[in-house]
Amino acid sequence: MLPLLLVFVTLQVSSINAANILGIITTASVSHHLPFRPLWKELAQRGHQVTVITTDPQRNLSNYNLIEIDISYTYKIYDKYDISNVISDENNSYADIASVLQKLFFEAHDYMLNVPEVQDLILNKKNNFDVILCEAHMPSMMAFAWRFKCPLIAIASLDPAMQYHDSLGNLVHPVINPDPNLDIEDSENLSFTDRIRSFIYTYAYKYVIYTMTFPSHHEHMRRYFGDDLPSFNELQNNISLMFTGTNPLFHNMRPMNLNTIPIGGGMHLQPPQNLPKDLKKFLDDSTTGVIYFSLGSNVKCNLLSERFRREILDTFAKVPYRVVLKIDCNLTNIPSNVLVKSWMPQQDVLRHPNVKLFITQGGLQSLQEAISNGIPLIGIPFFGDQITNVNRMEKRGYGIKLNKRTITKEILTKAINEVMYNSKYRETAKLMGDIFKDEEIPSLQRAIFWTEYVIRHKGADHLRSSATGMPGWKYYMLDVIGFFALCTVFTLTILYLLLRLVISILVYFVKHILLVRLNLVIKTNQGKLKYN
Ligand SMILES: *[C@@H]1O[C@H](CO)[C@@H](O)[C@H](O)[C@H]1NC(C)=O
Ligand SMILES: *[C@@H]1O[C@H](CO)[C@@H](O)[C@H](O)[C@H]1NC(C)=O
Ligand SMILES: *[C@@H]1O[C@H](CO)[C@@H](O)[C@H](O)[C@H]1NC(C)=O
Ligand SMILES: *[C@@H]1O[C@H](CO)[C@@H](O)[C@H](O)[C@H]1NC(C)=O
Ligand SMILES: *[C@@H]1O[C@H](CO)[C@@H](O)[C@H](O)[C@H]1NC(C)=O
Repeated sequence: MLPLLLVFVTLQVSSINAANILGIITTASVSHHLPFRPLWKELAQRGHQVTVITTDPQRNLSNYNLIEIDISYTYKIYDKYDISNVISDENNSYADIASVLQKLFFEAHDYMLNVPEVQDLILNKKNNFDVILCEAHMPSMMAFAWRFKCPLIAIASLDPAMQYHDSLGNLVHPVINPDPNLDIEDSENLSFTDRIRSFIYTYAYKYVIYTMTFPSHHEHMRRYFGDDLPSFNELQNNISLMFTGTNPLFHNMRPMNLNTIPIGGGMHLQPPQNLPKDLKKFLDDSTTGVIYFSLGSNVKCNLLSERFRREILDTFAKVPYRVVLKIDCNLTNIPSNVLVKSWMPQQDVLRHPNVKLFITQGGLQSLQEAISNGIPLIGIPFFGDQITNVNRMEKRGYGIKLNKRTITKEILTKAINEVMYNSKYRETAKLMGDIFKDEEIPSLQRAIFWTEYVIRHKGADHLRSSATGMPGWKYYMLDVIGFFALCTVFTLTILYLLLRLVISILVYFVKHILLVRLNLVIKTNQGKLKYN
């Protein structure tokens, strides 16, 4: 038995050659990194050498063949531009936001490409990678795939921006898959005005990204990668595979090609861990249930008005429950039934049997953590996909949506009572959780398989859609439609001319034959009259 086992083990090991893998995630938001941490770790444990450029290094991974390149200073650049405020302020137009983002990305890219380890990646000829997994964000960092002449996997913790679906040939349709950043009441059944808005947004976005954003960022990247850097369109169309954080419970269904792999099954979910003592005691000792309140890592204190903070604290002071409040503010007059902390082991708090309600900003991962534990929600969205997520949550029936600007003690108390007393919300949350956890293959395993698949086959050209890189006029068959339109015009013209001919013949007939006769008759009659 033992020799057989050894042979088997040897075969297993030799069939998976250790590869050199580069991961790049440059968005300064921990939720963009969390789902991929298990992937980096698992790839490293399988013997691959993994290097990750990240704004959120874990710093204590020395035991794995996992190297992190720390670009966490990016957070300071985001803070400098006060980006969450800019995005969540309704007075800012899309153009205002885009111009701030442009400046921010230039500065962030300048910083990260000048980090010594990153400079070494660009310049040192000895570096070499078998695959690059790069965040489907601005395609700037995808230049590394060109630099190393290796296959590229685009990765996203959410539904990637539409230009990525475009370049893989997946459906981009303003009515069936409206952009998650658009505030749409029901994204599965758009009203007429929402269809108009989504149409304008989709094509205006594409126009801006392809004709303005891409060229200016490309110009910028050439400083680092050289003048022969291919265009962003070429870089993007060279993507072998894309991992998306999508899941039918949280996103509209979208027809996607086989090179788009959904891994939105909660890859960031961790096995249970012990709670800190004080927190555990606070939760254990509650007799009536606990409300957990957290607006996630991106809604900072400066986004919460004085009024908002007072209203929620006043509400919590009056409810017959304990409240665990994750907030990064200096609050005063904290009620005795409220425990405030600036950080919480959220997944373990939500696992605690006494937690009955989660008040959230509606981030994708928070919703997943809630339903995994059958916990109903109250959603107070701030920006990005949170609005769409919360609208959908309310429609599905496992939570209630509240507006951050109009929230008052009365409104919040009413919502809390509704979710606590009406069992419908809890039952639906549990049902959603059961569906969510019922995966054919866990997302992590799927991501591992497909990463190694791309390494084994040096890309996945055979999975490429013929829509990749196809110009819009061909994709939308504008030439074909134009041809038929021309044919129709031609036929109609012929018909018209024929009709005119027939009419003129008729007219001729009437005029020259009928009327002449008639004239004769009249003239004859007139003659007769005269003679009378
Ligand atoms: C790294 O350390 C942090 C804090 O000590 C801990 O929470 C985390 O679980 C550690 N990560 C790993 C992968 O061990
Ligand atoms: C937006 O503009 C209106 C009118 O100028 C103003 O009353 C409101 O306070 C502004 N909102 C924010 C968030 O600045
Ligand atoms: C496209 O990817 C292949 C490897 O899959 C690589 O050799 C080639 O250089 C890439 N081309 C561009 C323009 O990035
Ligand atoms: C979509 O919305 C319209 C108008 O609000 C409604 O009449 C229709 O039943 C809805 N369709 C579906 C499939 O929900
Ligand atoms: C809270 O107060 C401490 C000390 O007074 C201060 O250092 C910190 O910056 C404050 N935090 C916030 C978010 O205002």
